[in-house]
Amino acid sequence: MPVGEDTITVEFAGTDDMRSDKMENDKVLDAFNAASSDYDKYRKQAIPNMDIYYNTVIKLTQEYENPKILDLGAGTGILTELLYKQHPNSEITLVDLSEDMLNIAKEKFREHDFRYVIADYLRHDFEEEYDIVVSSLSIHHLTDEEKIVLYTKIYNILSQGGVFINADQVNGATDYTEQIYKKQDADHLDKQNIPEEEKQILRDRRKLDKPAKLSDTIRWYEDIGYKNVDVYYKYYRYFVIAGEK
Ligand SMILES: C[S@@+](CC[C@H](N)C(=O)[O-])C[C@H]1O[C@@H](n2cnc3c(N)ncnc32)[C@H](O)[C@@H]1O
Repeated sequence: MPVGEDTITVEFAGTDDMRSDKMENDKVLDAFNAASSDYDKYRKQAIPNMDIYYNTVIKLTQEYENPKILDLGAGTGILTELLYKQHPNSEITLVDLSEDMLNIAKEKFREHDFRYVIADYLRHDFEEEYDIVVSSLSIHHLTDEEKIVLYTKIYNILSQGGVFINADQVNGATDYTEQIYKKQDADHLDKQNIPEEEKQILRDRRKLDKPAKLSDTIRWYEDIGYKNVDVYYKYYRYFVIAGEK
């Protein structure tokens, strides 16, 4: 992969693998369309320390004045809302595969002039630059190969000095630590006061997750050319990573 240029291209083979990834994508789309109406209701129970986790992202954007913001996999706009509170005069674009999820966001933000793009962010052609690109709990649905393509694509649409902040999930560094993460996920969900049916939906949706290892993620960012790559939050598999252009 070429490094250090302003614009970077990565080859991505359109093979049988990609066709099966497309089918995987359809499963993700179906799962989030189906979840959309109740999605916000149980988020705080589903995500440990959600306030600290999401606010870590917001804090990392504080130094930017009226930034142009892109929220990838914005869903119902939980992170977008926090971004808007921090940057009320910004131009904000929400991208998501699921129209149903974005429709909830549209309704929530009907008084704001946000932009909405229903698209697979991996395949969508972004034509503008952004000062801040964020994503929360979305990119772990991609294969590792696709993650590298997306991280590169994001680098290419960041303005100089811009930042990409990703709040997502990682795999354990070893099989042993992955088992510890799995147990933590299961124990956390088991003890939440939410309907059993909803817990099962969350357990089923976890089967679509494909998190990468943190060490690989940091290396990919640095290889692509991101500067000051660091991890600002981590709790078991939940982490916030940021890198600048
Ligand atoms: C767990 S939700 C997170 C939503 C929101 N960011 C939040 O923090 O609540 C993941 C979202 O990513 C979207 N998503 C997954 N893969 C995507 C892709 N390839 N392109 C666009 N959106 C995608 C899903 O449709 C879903 O709305």
